[in-house]
Order: sequence, then C-alpha cells, then structure tokens
Amino acid sequence: MDRAEQQGAAAADATATRRQLDIRDHVEPADYQTIGTPFVDDAKMTARNVNVFYGEKQAITNISLDIGRNEVIAMIGPSGCGKSTFLRTLNRMNDIIPICRVEGEFALDGEDIYGGDQDTVLLRARVGMVFQKPNPFPKSIYENVAYGPRIHGLAHNKAEMDEIVEDSLRRASLFNEVKDQLDKPGTGLSGGQQQRLCIARAIAVSPEVILMDEPCSALDPIATARIEELIDELRENYTIAIVTHSMQQAARVSQRTAYFHMGKLIEVGDTKQIFTMPRHELTENYITGRFG
Ligand SMILES: Nc1ncnc2c1ncn2[C@@H]1O[C@H](COP(=O)(O)OP(=O)(O)OP(=O)(O)O)[C@@H](O)[C@H]1O
Ligand SMILES: [Mg+2]
Repeated sequence: MDRAEQQGAAAADATATRRQLDIRDHVEPADYQTIGTPFVDDAKMTARNVNVFYGEKQAITNISLDIGRNEVIAMIGPSGCGKSTFLRTLNRMNDIIPICRVEGEFALDGEDIYGGDQDTVLLRARVGMVFQKPNPFPKSIYENVAYGPRIHGLAHNKAEMDEIVEDSLRRASLFNEVKDQLDKPGTGLSGGQQQRLCIARAIAVSPEVILMDEPCSALDPIATARIEELIDELRENYTIAIVTHSMQQAARVSQRTAYFHMGKLIEVGDTKQIFTMPRHELTENYITGRFG
C-alpha cells in the first residue's frame, strides 16, 4: 500500500485504532548500508526507509533508525548533511515547508505518526522541539510556559496552571532566576535563560520526546554547561535527540551517536565506541577533524 492508500484505509475505518506499524520487518535494501546498530530493543521512535526531498533535490537517502526510550541520541555530521531535515521528520515539522516531501515510515510507540488521522498539533506536543536560536514568544515569562498547557487544556484553573508553570521552570532549572519577574517579557532574559525558557515551554506539555537542534550553539560555555546538565536530568523522564556540531557535547550528553554524511546515515552506535573506535572511514575523518 502506498501512503495515499493507507490514509484512505485509515479514514475509511473511523473506529479503527491508530495503525500499529510492524516496522522491523520493513527494512529495504539501500544502495548503502548503515554501519553499527541503528535498531534497539526498546525503541521509543522508529524511522524506516526515510527519503526526504526539497523539490527535485534529495536531502535524505534511505535512512532507518530507532530512537531508544530514555536515551539521548546525538546526531552529528558536516553542515548540510541532513541532520535538521531528519530531526524535523520526527515531529512532522517538515510539513510546513511547502517544497519538502517526506517518504518512509515513522512510529511513536509503534503508532504511525504520518497516518491520515494524526493531529500534528498533538504530535508536536508529544514530540517537542527546541531550536538553535532561543525563540520565546513576545509574551511574559509565565505566558511563554502557560501557552502550550492552555491550548491543550492541561490545567483546570489558575492554581493548576501556576503549578505547571513553576514545575516546568524548575525542571528547566530557571525558576530561581525568574520567580520574581514572571510577568516580565521572556525576550528580556539573557540568551542562556531564554533557551532554558524554551526548554521549560517544551516540557510544560509533558512531551515524551524532545528534539533539540543545536540548542547550545548561541550560548556561552557556562550556559552550555547548564543546558547539558539539564539534558542529563531530563533523560530520566524523556527521550532526547540532539543535533550538535560539538563533538565534546555529543560525547558528554549522549549514549548513542549517529553520524550523517551527505544525506546518508553512515554509522551509528554507542557514543564511546563512535568517538574512540569509529568503524567507517568517513566517521573517523569527521571526528578526527579531517573533514567538515
Ligand atoms: N527549506 C529548505 N529548502 C530547500 N532546501 C533545504 C531546505 N532546508 C534544507 N535544505 C537542504 O537540505 C540539505 C540538508 O540540510 P539540513 O539543514 O538538514 O542540514 P544540516 O545537517 O542540519 O546542516 P547544518 O549543520 O548546517 O545545520 C542541504 O542541502 C540544504 O540545502
Ligand atoms: Mg541544521
């Protein structure tokens, strides 16, 4: 069945529960083979046979990868290799780029996330995103965090909302710095504080997965260290995929690392192994600074 047929079938049966993908059997031969361990036993998200195009140009070629439950997976590789593009497929952020076309199968806890009945607003609450440049709304600190819970109806009254806001700011280790100025604009905070505010905003809707696209690239080393500590703490409750240009950062925060090269997933494995004993020459060239 192609996707249009699948969507038709899903729509035809309004009472059907969301399609469960039996994904592991679907791996198709590619013109290259990813080295290492793209599949894990306890996958939170699965992506299979992913191809992404911008118009005629292919940005991702036949990538299959699992994101393990409660792991931090780092995605590294030279500029333009498709890291952001791949990350965005995981919560359908590419849908909002008109020329972008995504092929492949994607599941969250085994459920198809590209099915015709998938609500993308809900999906992006379950699979949240933190961007390279902190992007608080032009609203108060409080409202930045309360916005998501409000549109998803997570609080029944002001007291419950106050609790969600405080708890999210605490988990993003920002609360103590802003507790006396919750009504001040979020845009008035420092860059590092703004990024922690964006993380608080992402976790306020209790996501299951957090996608981070170079979350520290605009931050100084102190702010970066705080975000890295935070990532380590968040791992207890969330699954995290982080794109980074910093190999030190990948080594510090992740348990698995995926190396991308020109739209292909070249190698993936245990972070220690990738950085100490890469198996593919391209991975080795990159981590030793001979490329990119
Ligand atoms: N909105 C877009 N329109 C057209 N082409 C795009 C778009 N976004 C990305 N691309 C192309 O897709 C390819 C992969 O880009 P992508 O942004 O995913 O790379 P990246 O690995 O995240 O790079 P960087 O490290 O510089 O952020 C590139 O060739 C890029 O030019
Ligand atoms: Mg990018």
